[in-house]
Amino acid sequence: MPDTITIVDNRTGKKFELPITHDTIKAIDLRQIKVKDDDFGMMTYDPAFMNTASCISRITYIDGDKGILRYRGYPIEQIAESAQSFLEVAYLVLKGELPNAKQLEVWRNKIKMHTLVHENVKTLMEGFRYDAHPMGIFISTVAALSTFYPEAKKVRDAANREAQIIRLIGKVPTIAAFAYRHSKGMPYVYPDNDLTYAGNFLKMMFKAGESPYKVNPVLEHALTILFILHADHEQNCSTSAMRVIGSSECDPYSATAGAAAALWGPLHGGANEAVIHMLDEIADIKNVPGFVKEVKEGKGKLMGFGHRVYKNYDPRAKVIKKMAYDVFEVTGRNPKLDIALELERIALEDEYFVKRKLYPNVDFYSGLIYQAMGFPLDFFPVLFAIPRTVGWLAQWQELLDDSEQKISRPRQVFLGPDARNWVPTIDRK
Ligand code: ACO
Repeated sequence: MPDTITIVDNRTGKKFELPITHDTIKAIDLRQIKVKDDDFGMMTYDPAFMNTASCISRITYIDGDKGILRYRGYPIEQIAESAQSFLEVAYLVLKGELPNAKQLEVWRNKIKMHTLVHENVKTLMEGFRYDAHPMGIFISTVAALSTFYPEAKKVRDAANREAQIIRLIGKVPTIAAFAYRHSKGMPYVYPDNDLTYAGNFLKMMFKAGESPYKVNPVLEHALTILFILHADHEQNCSTSAMRVIGSSECDPYSATAGAAAALWGPLHGGANEAVIHMLDEIADIKNVPGFVKEVKEGKGKLMGFGHRVYKNYDPRAKVIKKMAYDVFEVTGRNPKLDIALELERIALEDEYFVKRKLYPNVDFYSGLIYQAMGFPLDFFPVLFAIPRTVGWLAQWQELLDDSEQKISRPRQVFLGPDARNWVPTIDRK
């Protein structure tokens, strides 16, 4: 059987045979379908890109029905279990293969060379109000890096691109930690390159005074896993933003800032904060059934549930749920865990959620862990942005190396007014 699809235009009776590649047809092939020769031609209408592949990618694979997530072919469960460090996974996501020992050492050293920020970046951050949202500070500061590295705009130069990627991965934890310390009025702690990516970040966040800071290995491991689970997730909202912005060939700092802005919303990276607010609102296990009833009546959403792609348990949520118990051994149990567990139990048995295939997503349990570790709620999206910077950059690089890609420029279906004549102010009713 040929790999084609035949479309009959019932307006004209004409038949069109379109090639099928990888279970897709090219939207541009529809343009030949016209009633009159001077018609624009047919387009697809796909608000929110529910069923449109915008690129060919070789980075992250998701099977939403089966609950599968793989980076470069490796199942996320195996990666979370076996990876020695976040930077090892960053290498895999960016370069496509696991590094050997030598490659990993070189890679780590390169990133560590770039953890400091220019002192002027510090001054810039000091300009934010004392109560500025750390994500606002993070986004603005990442964008501002483009002014420190003007050569970054040479995005067609592979060596230059690599240099900016290394800089960004090295600097985002520092900027994130400085954003937190700023909002607390605490002095900034400079990076400690003898520590792991997660360990150094914890120290920059929480070191108080001159006393030495000892990284707790359980919390360091938990944060490493959380970073790994958040490294990439194919064409989600923020990654698509990264690709759209990057397609104009702007510098990666501006594009990353744009992607981070997309991440901030409560329907995306802000969801784990919303989960904590929801659990606070529920306040007690006995209120869970009433809350679920209200959700079913359309009076709000069960935050941390549902996903555009996963119609099964999000595999990341499984790993996180298991890990929560290790963290709570150190920090003490987050009292909201019991409400969350009950909420999950009831929702997974309820026909409303079952029918709509709504399962816990990555955000359902991550917020509980972050909160137990001492991160404030408004810092959660920043915690997401640090590891996701790796995914954004991998996707950005892939975009620039893809000869089929051009500047992103979707079409629209225009339903506004037809041409009409300007009315002078005096004649308007
Ligand atoms: N609680 C209750 N009902 C829900 C939920 C939810 N969390 N999510 C979806 N639904 C319902 C919708 O009301 C809709 O019902 P209907 O068919 O009766 O109208 C149906 O399930 C389908 O939902 P859509 O909104 O069409 O699904 P979509 O793919 O557009 O949305 C999204 C996905 C945004 C993640 C949504 O499930 C949601 O808002 N969840 C809560 C926020 C959240 O946890 N976001 C984090 C996502 S993971 C991440 O970004 C890292």
